[in-house]
Amino acid sequence: MGRITNHLRRATGDGLLVTEGKRWHQQRTSTQKIFRSNRMSLFASIADHHIGEMLERWKSCPTLEIESEMTLLTQRIMGDGFFGIQLESEPEVAKAVRTLSDSFHDESRAILNLPDWLPTSKKREKKRATTLLKEKLKGIIEHRISSQDRRDDYLDMLLYPATDSNSNCPYHKHESIDEIMCQLLTMYIAGFHTTSVAMAWLLALVAQSPEIQDKVWAQCQSELDDTLILDNHKQENYAEMVVKESLRLYPAAWELFAREASRETKLGPCHIPRGSKLLILPIVVHHDERFYPNPKVFDPLRFCQKTESERPAYSSIPFGLGGHQCIGQALPLQQMTQILKSVIPNFQLELPPDSIQKTKIVPKVSLRPARDFQVSIVPRSPTISELKNTDAVANC
Ligand code: HEM
Repeated sequence: MGRITNHLRRATGDGLLVTEGKRWHQQRTSTQKIFRSNRMSLFASIADHHIGEMLERWKSCPTLEIESEMTLLTQRIMGDGFFGIQLESEPEVAKAVRTLSDSFHDESRAILNLPDWLPTSKKREKKRATTLLKEKLKGIIEHRISSQDRRDDYLDMLLYPATDSNSNCPYHKHESIDEIMCQLLTMYIAGFHTTSVAMAWLLALVAQSPEIQDKVWAQCQSELDDTLILDNHKQENYAEMVVKESLRLYPAAWELFAREASRETKLGPCHIPRGSKLLILPIVVHHDERFYPNPKVFDPLRFCQKTESERPAYSSIPFGLGGHQCIGQALPLQQMTQILKSVIPNFQLELPPDSIQKTKIVPKVSLRPARDFQVSIVPRSPTISELKNTDAVANC
């Protein structure tokens, strides 16, 4: 099966999202390095720092717009971890990523695609967004090359491939600046809105459920003193189950890129002629009653080890499947668990019942709410850090 991604290629060039065959394999192998375990701990400490700053700010905010908060947080974490620079001072960057993502989605759906040079308002908007992002990224790359600054981030990896990782030799043009810019843009487009919107759904869902917050809080407390409170699910990471269940109910990537059958085949009872276009919809799979009874109910225990092992493979596909499965998936999974386990021990979140269910959903490239969720927050007392300090004093 080939993926249908022509509409993306015009903006991102030959980035990992659109390549196939040998070129894709080469890019996939070299990109995998940023998600190795040592880099994942680096991302964890970057996230920790920015989450800490965010929670400090939250102390003086009784109500939050949760998607905006998660957008800002993701922008900060990705900015630091990918190209060592903060882009949030430039809100038009987030807007441009959204404009581009929306146009990819609309174009992939259109029966007839107009050429990009036509001066329609949508095409002009797309061009403005593409130019802005490319110029920003190009500026960052050129500055890094001219300053010969070395950092532990993705841009450094692209500029100085593996063999040079410890050397101080200047950038030596393995790839052109345009190619590097395409790789950066690809990661930004693939990872930015998906992650921020997934974190927003997660916190909104949890805000509607005090019992689930209590259990996450219990897990955090139990990790403090090594006693396990989660009765039937001892040893299991409850926060991780909450994350997986939120990705099931509201998969940020609700549909995969359309596929084209490269040869005639059979899929279950269906005959698929060569050239057929196929859509794989995680949101439909995740709401199938055969795998998830009462599929609309938010129930993290669906992801306890026993229940999970009884479901067929591919009944949960928030990160796709096969060779093109999300290369960055460890990052949002880690970040989502981290945010849950940082927010809940410090604040109780409140969102009126059914707020999510009543919200209109905008299914573009990522699944997002039509209006941001207004979540009320109440600081906990004692907070986890106060408990930690009490423990430290008691152990003296
Ligand atoms: C909650 C967050 C995320 C979700 C739900 C998600 C989902 C997905 C899905 C479903 C695919 C497969 C698309 C298809 O086969 O049609 C994919 C591919 C991809 N994702 Fe993610 N993603 C997330 C975060 C990220 C992050 C943080 C990055 C990088 C920083 C990233 C980079 C990529 C790339 C480069 C691909 C293409 C891989 C390839 O074709 O080999 N994603 N993602």
